[in-house]
Amino acid sequence: MLKILIFFVSAFAAFRPVLREGECPDEDLAILCDSHCYIDYAACKDACEESGCERICLNAYAGCYSRCPCFELCPNGCSDCDNSVCTCRSPEIDNIDHRQCIKEANDHFTSCVGNCQYTERACYDQCYSLLVEESDKCPCNSGCPLGCPCESGYSCQKYITAICQRQSASSYVDFSYMISANGHIQENRYYSSPLSTGSYQFLYNSGFAILNGQMFLYGGNQDPKKVARIEECAIEDTGKRLINNFYGIEGSLVTLPEIVEETILCNSYSTTALKCESFNGEATKAMSDVQVQHQQGCMSLYLGQAVIIAGYHSDSVEFLEFSGWQNLTEHPGGSTFYRHTCASTDDGILTVGGYSGSSFSKEVFYFKNDQWTVAGKMQNNYQFGSMIFLDSFFIVFGGNNNYNTVERAEWQNETVTSTSVIHDHGGDCLHPIVFETRPDQCSEFCSQDFCYFLP
Ligand SMILES: *[C@@H]1O[C@H](CO)[C@@H](O)[C@H](O)[C@H]1NC(C)=O
Ligand SMILES: *[C@@H]1O[C@H](CO)[C@@H](O)[C@H](O)[C@H]1NC(C)=O
Repeated sequence: MLKILIFFVSAFAAFRPVLREGECPDEDLAILCDSHCYIDYAACKDACEESGCERICLNAYAGCYSRCPCFELCPNGCSDCDNSVCTCRSPEIDNIDHRQCIKEANDHFTSCVGNCQYTERACYDQCYSLLVEESDKCPCNSGCPLGCPCESGYSCQKYITAICQRQSASSYVDFSYMISANGHIQENRYYSSPLSTGSYQFLYNSGFAILNGQMFLYGGNQDPKKVARIEECAIEDTGKRLINNFYGIEGSLVTLPEIVEETILCNSYSTTALKCESFNGEATKAMSDVQVQHQQGCMSLYLGQAVIIAGYHSDSVEFLEFSGWQNLTEHPGGSTFYRHTCASTDDGILTVGGYSGSSFSKEVFYFKNDQWTVAGKMQNNYQFGSMIFLDSFFIVFGGNNNYNTVERAEWQNETVTSTSVIHDHGGDCLHPIVFETRPDQCSEFCSQDFCYFLP
């Protein structure tokens, strides 16, 4: 019995990783990270009732520390390591969730003491205790030592960047900002861009899609065949050319997540335009035409396949098969339905906003198992907006016709359970370019000679 026990202890000791002294540039964070993985392991093991359980705990422990700085997946310490503990050395600079959490705690403190009579020392003390308690729960502090996500306490956010370039019409606006998914933080972000030509800015009325992890931008009035991309904080023309003209409001596009990813673009900008093509990052290729025109429609993925939805001339819905485009059940928004935006969920497609030719729709339509249902309602109308779906919620960024708000909808059990308006652009934009980002992405503004950090 004793022998078996010793065997287990030494097997485990061999399992516990060792950091060689002086070899890890971020040793303190590495130790902090590993020790918290170990605390979780110990708690997991203590709760075990059967033998297989310990192995599961041990595997979880190995998975946890391998992501710590200087371990397997982060061999260079914190450089090129996405473990949030790496933002915890100087969280007031490196961790926007920490900064926001501290700011909220301070705001609560200020309003708390505002309710104290100046003679009431106990009242101030109580506010101070609340401040300490709330601050402790912030990412990188004792209640959340490894940074986001925090197991208890602060709710860390996802962040989205939204970009728009206008034409000269005065109702249109330019913007480039980062917003937290709950809307509490919104800050400008800085991208350089090729100059406008004539009355059109470079990105005005272009389409966007992420391909191989990089944002690509297609067409637009400035040059309807261009292919551009966002490289770090620069919008750049790739020099590659589409076969057909593409305009963001008329055409539809989506990226197919195949072994070699490719973006499918269908233009639909005139009665004769049913043309589709694909782009794989290097080259374009003509592909089969859609059966009917889908001008001002949208495209999304359904079970990994491209689906193009409705448009100015039709409620038709088609999906892309190897043999070409095939019909699915028509969109329920009207015999024509257009100017909507759409996004894929895990196993369906949502459409939001849009116009039937006589009325705007606040309805959220959901497609699944070749059936459309009404899954809820937005507070505001949207036309030529954009949306991003992030598991338990989606956010719609307003387009034009004064429908300029940004609205977040909670998505549970295939239903919109509630929505809230989190921002307003105060002017028009055609299909804002939206994508999930790091919160600090492009927060530095660079002129020719200097970069300014704008926290
Ligand atoms: C698909 O639907 C469109 C319009 O809804 C129709 O014109 C076309 O004939 C249909 N195609 C097939 C193969 O049924
Ligand atoms: C989800 O919706 C289905 C069908 O509407 C319903 O039967 C089920 O009880 C719901 N589940 C939850 C957790 O609300």
